[in-house]
Amino acid sequence: MSDTTKPQAQPDVTPYARPEEGTNPPLLYPPYASTVRRAPKEPLVWLRHTITEVTGPLLGERRLGDLDHDLTRHHRGEPLGERIIVHGRVLEGDGRPVPHTLIEIWQANAGGRYRHDGDQHPAPLDPNFTGLGRCMTDAEGRYRFITIKPGAYPWRNHDNAWRAAHIHFSLFGRAFVQRLVTQMYFPNEHLFFQDPIYQSVRDERARQALMSRFDLSETVPEWALAYQFDIVLTGRDKTPIDEDH
Ligand SMILES: [Fe+2]
Repeated sequence: MSDTTKPQAQPDVTPYARPEEGTNPPLLYPPYASTVRRAPKEPLVWLRHTITEVTGPLLGERRLGDLDHDLTRHHRGEPLGERIIVHGRVLEGDGRPVPHTLIEIWQANAGGRYRHDGDQHPAPLDPNFTGLGRCMTDAEGRYRFITIKPGAYPWRNHDNAWRAAHIHFSLFGRAFVQRLVTQMYFPNEHLFFQDPIYQSVRDERARQALMSRFDLSETVPEWALAYQFDIVLTGRDKTPIDEDH
């Protein structure tokens, strides 16, 4: 490991904010069983941000297909289930939009089954649903997906364990330190009480940030309900990080 006390021949960069205590789930959360096997045994070492961390990949819009955002149109027929619109904005911590950034989603089908070898539970696969989508935010940081409301699914973490219905999100932001992999939940869910992935987020505001909002204004009559899910990425830190950390 490099000695961070030595002066480094790198240009000064404005660092990004570190996560506030409790807003990210702890790396070790024993009720979520797989964290016991994968959590680091040693305390984390905070590295200073350099030009490598505060820049990111340029993912050109033209690499995406016209229907990549519409998970209901990736096969010959339409998937079964409740068609929904999921939309929102990607923002920095200070409220500025994050334009032209890649968002990828993946999810179970309406029956709660993933099209993945690791999911063999006895719910039907849908030949018209793969469950993968992607899009770029526009100049105002907006995005929009059309998909199917995912079902809850069992997952063997503990006795009679079921995941609350969710959609996985991956974002790249503008810098590698903004990379975010998270999950979106639905309002009026009744499985949160026994879902340790949701429960591992201890901060109430952070929990609310994982929750989509039913949005009547974007609902399309006779066609699909809409849910709004705004995503706030970590922003620049105006206070330089104490180098002793
Ligand atoms: Fe999942």
